[in-house]
Amino acid sequence: MILVTGATGVFGKNAIAQLIQKGVQPSNISALIRNPEKADFFEEKGIQVKIGDYTDYDSLVLAFKGVDKLLFVSSSTIEDRDAQHLNVVNAAKAVGIHHIVYTSFIRNTEIENSAISFLQDSHLKTENWIKETGINYTFLQNALYMDLLPMFIGEKVLESGRIMLPAKLGKSNAVLREELAEAAAIVLTSKGHENKVYPLVNNKGVDYTEIATYISEISGKTIKYVSPSPEEYQETLKKHGVPSEYIQLFTAFSIAQANGELELTNNTLEKLLGRKPTTPKAFLEKIYS
Ligand SMILES: NC(=O)c1ccc[n+]([C@@H]2O[C@H](COP(=O)([O-])OP(=O)(O)OC[C@H]3O[C@@H](n4cnc5c(N)ncnc54)[C@H](OP(=O)(O)O)[C@@H]3O)[C@@H](O)[C@H]2O)c1
Repeated sequence: MILVTGATGVFGKNAIAQLIQKGVQPSNISALIRNPEKADFFEEKGIQVKIGDYTDYDSLVLAFKGVDKLLFVSSSTIEDRDAQHLNVVNAAKAVGIHHIVYTSFIRNTEIENSAISFLQDSHLKTENWIKETGINYTFLQNALYMDLLPMFIGEKVLESGRIMLPAKLGKSNAVLREELAEAAAIVLTSKGHENKVYPLVNNKGVDYTEIATYISEISGKTIKYVSPSPEEYQETLKKHGVPSEYIQLFTAFSIAQANGELELTNNTLEKLLGRKPTTPKAFLEKIYS
């Protein structure tokens, strides 16, 4: 039995679809959901639904009974993520799960020097907790989701003709979320992935100058990239009424990109997928043409 946590999320749903596509019987898949109202989507497909919340250890122990492999999708909340993740790891240990596949994040910088240390710290802690259980693990150190590019670039890019982010000429090897979910399903359905750490990144990193050039070519409109100081960037966003949590998040990821934290050379993803991951240009063509 494979149990997928975060099953109602985009990654979890894609991972389940890929498991079924790879021949896993729906009756051998469990979906962990916290809201029973979302059960129909899975039950209609013959997938077992388990109700559980990362904040509720007992619910996880109950949900994990009889599970052999766990696809542990990291929590979408940042505040109490450590406590939530510790519950998941402890529950997996308590019921004797054999293999945990955990969605971590690419890490090429010491936590204390990271612009996204709030995130990296939690992933590193979770990886260490999993290792300490002695359960077989595979850490999927996922790249930034390429799907988030339009959010970083801004909805009005074609009108403004400008991408403004304090990312300098830092590159990102971002990957489509569905391809990362496909890689997770491959790891869960093939052999030899025990106790491995897989950085899952695109083959080529791109910076925002290249992104601006791609969008210009695709849309026929001239798009320029400007990289202000983080302070100037934050002031501009504040003036436009962007909520402060978004300002902080965009700034942190942009600085991380400027510092090279989102750039990595590694072809594990290509090897797992058996093809080259979708390029940013191909992705942007679908959005801006
Ligand atoms: N690599 C990247 O660039 C990147 C970017 C963003 C996020 N992430 C990470 O990747 C994860 C998966 O991405 P996604 O796009 O699928 O996110 P998503 O669509 O927001 O899905 C998050 C999933 O986690 C579930 N969840 C949240 N809190 C929970 C809790 N306390 N107990 C049980 N389940 C809980 C949600 O359940 P509900 O449906 O009930 O809310 C949902 O199923 C995210 O959670 C985040 O940790 C990575």
